[in-house]
Amino acid sequence: MCVSLFLSLTMSFWWLTMFRVWSVCVSLVLILWGMSEKVQGKASKLWLQQLNETFLQTGVFPSRFLWGVGTAAFPTEGSWDADGKGESVWDRFTRHSDPSSDSYIQWEEDLESVQYLGVNFYAFSLSWTRIFPDGNAKAHPNPAGVQHYRRLIGKLKELQVEPVVTLFHWDLPQVLQERFGGWLNRSTADVFADYAAFCFRTFGAEVRYWITMHNPFLLAVQGYGTGAHAPGVTGDPADPFIAAHNLLRAHAKAWHVYDKHFRPHQHGKVSITLGSHWVEPLHAQATPTNLELCQKAMEAVIGWFAEPIYGSGDYPESLKASHRGVIPEFSAQERLWMKDQAYV
Ligand SMILES: *[C@@H]1O[C@H](CO)[C@@H](O)[C@H](O)[C@H]1NC(C)=O
Ligand SMILES: *[C@@H]1O[C@H](CO)[C@@H](O)[C@H](O)[C@H]1NC(C)=O
Repeated sequence: MCVSLFLSLTMSFWWLTMFRVWSVCVSLVLILWGMSEKVQGKASKLWLQQLNETFLQTGVFPSRFLWGVGTAAFPTEGSWDADGKGESVWDRFTRHSDPSSDSYIQWEEDLESVQYLGVNFYAFSLSWTRIFPDGNAKAHPNPAGVQHYRRLIGKLKELQVEPVVTLFHWDLPQVLQERFGGWLNRSTADVFADYAAFCFRTFGAEVRYWITMHNPFLLAVQGYGTGAHAPGVTGDPADPFIAAHNLLRAHAKAWHVYDKHFRPHQHGKVSITLGSHWVEPLHAQATPTNLELCQKAMEAVIGWFAEPIYGSGDYPESLKASHRGVIPEFSAQERLWMKDQAYV
C-alpha cells in the first residue's frame, strides 16, 4: 500500500534510528484502519491487539520499499525574498530571521550529499511563494522559481534519486493569510487546487510521487489553535477544526484534479503525509477502558485526517462527539468525494 510509504517519510529524516519501528507502526495503523471500516465496530481496536513481535524484530521490508531522506522548503532553502519570491506566513512569523540551510543557493552540493547517502528518494517541498509570490496560480508564475525546481528535479533524475514532491509544507503565501484568512477560508482549498494543477502540469512529467501536504494536524492545531506555529492565529476553539476541514478539502480537491486530468498520462501517485503519536496500554493494563482511551487518543490525532480519507469519508465518531458544535460537517456528496481517493 503506497500510503504507508508516504506516511513513513516524515519520520525518516528526523529519527533515522527509530524509522524502522515507526514505519511499521504507521503502516499498520493505516492498513488496519481500512480493515476496521469494513468490519465495522468489532475490529476497530485491531491495532491494539497482540502484534507479531517476531515479525517486527526479524521481518524484512518489501523489496520495493523506498528508503530516503527529506527536507521542507522553509527551513532549508533560505533566500526568502530572492529572485521574485513572495513572503510566506513562516517568513513573516520568524521576521525573516530564519538562518536556514541555504539550499536555494547550494542545492547542487546538497544533492551530492543525498547521492552520497545512497538513498532511493529525496523528498522536498515546493515553496508556493517562490512560484506564485501572492499565491494566485491564475497569475503568471515567477520564472526563477519554476526554473529552480525544474533544475532540482532534473538533477535528481540524473542521479537516479526519485523526487518525492510535497506541494505544501505549511508555508502559505502571506497574502492569502492576511487578505483572506488563510485556511479558515473555504476558498483557500480552491486556490490550492489551482496551484496543485499548475505543479502537476509543469513538473508532473518527471514526478511519480506527489504529496499534497505535510502533517495538517500540526498546522491546524499549532497554526490556528495554540499559535505556536505560523500564522500564529489563536483565540477561537473552532478555528483548528475549520482549518483542518479546509485542509482536508484542499487535499481532496488536489487529488481529484490529478486523478482526472493528469493521472491518465502521468501515471503518478498522490498522497498526504500524516503524523501521529502512538498510544497503547502497558501489557498488564489492556482493560477495555484503557483500550477505549487509547483508541480515542489515536482518533483525535491521526484519525481526524485518516478516517475521512481512508475510512468512512467523515470524522471519527469520538471526535464528533467530543467537539459537537465546533467541528464542521461534510455534506453527503463531500463524504463520497473524500473517500474516493482511498484505494488508488
Ligand atoms: C509472525 O511472524 C513470523 C515471521 O515473519 C512468521 O513466521 C509467523 O508465522 C508469524 N506468526 C503469526 C501468528 O502470524
Ligand atoms: C475568501 O477568499 C476569497 C478568495 O479566495 C475571497 O474572495 C473572499 O472574500 C474570502 N472570504 C473572506 C471571509 O475573507
